[in-house]
Amino acid sequence: MLSLSLVLAAILVSFRHFSWGMELDLDDPDSLRLATALLADGILDYYSGKDPGGTVGMFTNPYYWWQAGAAWGSILDYGFYMENNTYEGHLIEAMLAQVGERIDYVPAEQATTEGNDDQAFWGMTAMAATERNLTNPPEGQPQWLALAQAVFNTMASRWDDSTCGGGLRWQIFKFNDGYDYKNSVSNGALFHIASRLARYTGNNTYVEWAEKTYDWMQDVGFIADINGWHFVYDGAPVEGDCRNTSRLQWTYNHGLILSGCAYLYNYTGSDIWHERTRNFLQSAVVFFDDDEILHEAACQGVGPDGVNTCNVDQRSFKAYFSRFLGLTAQLVPESRTQIMSWLRASALAAASSCSGGYDGHTCGMNWFIGHWDGVYGLGEQMAALEVFQNLRCLDRPAPYTAADGGSSIGNFAAGTTPVKYRAPPLNINRGDIGGAVIITTIIGITIAVCVVWLVI
Ligand SMILES: *[C@@H]1O[C@H](CO)[C@@H](O)[C@H](O)[C@H]1NC(C)=O
Ligand SMILES: *[C@@H]1O[C@H](CO)[C@@H](O)[C@H](O)[C@H]1NC(C)=O
Ligand SMILES: *[C@@H]1O[C@H](CO)[C@@H](O)[C@H](O)[C@H]1NC(C)=O
Ligand SMILES: *[C@@H]1O[C@H](CO)[C@@H](O)[C@H](O)[C@H]1NC(C)=O
Ligand SMILES: *[C@@H]1O[C@H](CO)[C@@H](O)[C@H](O)[C@H]1NC(C)=O
Repeated sequence: MLSLSLVLAAILVSFRHFSWGMELDLDDPDSLRLATALLADGILDYYSGKDPGGTVGMFTNPYYWWQAGAAWGSILDYGFYMENNTYEGHLIEAMLAQVGERIDYVPAEQATTEGNDDQAFWGMTAMAATERNLTNPPEGQPQWLALAQAVFNTMASRWDDSTCGGGLRWQIFKFNDGYDYKNSVSNGALFHIASRLARYTGNNTYVEWAEKTYDWMQDVGFIADINGWHFVYDGAPVEGDCRNTSRLQWTYNHGLILSGCAYLYNYTGSDIWHERTRNFLQSAVVFFDDDEILHEAACQGVGPDGVNTCNVDQRSFKAYFSRFLGLTAQLVPESRTQIMSWLRASALAAASSCSGGYDGHTCGMNWFIGHWDGVYGLGEQMAALEVFQNLRCLDRPAPYTAADGGSSIGNFAAGTTPVKYRAPPLNINRGDIGGAVIITTIIGITIAVCVVWLVI
């Protein structure tokens, strides 16, 4: 009898731990706070900048530099939505450490592999810092708005009329694979950043760039309109005039365009942007199953047995899509019912996947099975965090503008004039220096002892 109840208790305990995932009560702010804190901490577990010898701003292998920029965007919104500034120090230090010598997010260490999309993801984090009124860096240091403008200006300067009638190439440099490909993430990000800068600054030059980029993507067929359905395809080689299009649809491309339209509609009030916002919103249904659970349709199937061929980058796309849905809901009141319904269903499903790892709250990729699928990484952790924290989008202010709530100092010419910048030395406090001296001394003595031992 005793042993039977022990077995039962054990089964119940394991059911609790392995089947229910992370507890999340959608309508209890404390529950959301607890869940997002665990996930944000999980993201920082992958941050190498906090380890001795690690690079400030970078995440551990195999996460590329672009994803680091994107992850800081998740941490930034964590701070804003959950009203928790625990990680602000790391965030600001990371964002300044990676601006590069020309203060445009093309640092020398990345320059040889960096694409337009990579630069754009850091630029979007700078844009979010501007719109969320993140603490401004001290005078003399790069400022958030000017950084977003530098990313915009340098990207716009790469507009290439020599092939396909315009557009950005994927890569910045000729010697990189992908230089001969034009794609939606690079052009969509230019459109998206231009839309945000337009609304924030009130300068209509950015609207003109957004229109030009959107029109080009539509002309070339990257943005398709099929009986009112609006889709965003991956891209095409410049050979063949960008007509041989890869029709893969990624959540983050759809989100870049949807939310860009939402910014433009919010700023201009125009019928065209209204109509486009509505169409992209309705068409986003292709990324949800019948129960409104989000999935990365191009590399992930629906349901417990759905295939998963998503690579390390693609596994993070649901994070940005959730972020862009939250922005859209903030800016376009009529989108709110649909977006909150998607976010709520997906958050519950994602929470059920967060039962993995030695910590018991590592999140998985498949949100359909009600427990962890054995897959883990920075992308999975970010996707769950973003879908959770965007549940707060209507409880927190919409993106500020220069005229209303924002305080970052900009520079319309940022990125167009040569500068030579060195990030400030890190703030190492006396305790850390003391520790470093002791460690150096110990290592020194150890080497000396070894040498003596070898000689003897
Ligand atoms: C703030 O965030 C940190 C890091 O995620 C977490 O440990 C802490 O519990 C959070 N505080 C509150 C009040 O939620
Ligand atoms: C179009 O792209 C496909 C897949 O990349 C390739 O196999 C095919 O040869 C291309 N067609 C042309 C006409 O370039
Ligand atoms: C723009 O966004 C603000 C903030 O949410 C909202 O109050 C306003 O109604 C929006 N404007 C339009 C035209 O939708
Ligand atoms: C933005 O930050 C500035 C500078 O810290 C501050 O004066 C201002 O009140 C902040 N705006 C909002 C809406 O909190
Ligand atoms: C608007 O932005 C453009 C492009 O960055 C800049 O050249 C122009 O000077 C700005 N206009 C005003 C009135 O500040």
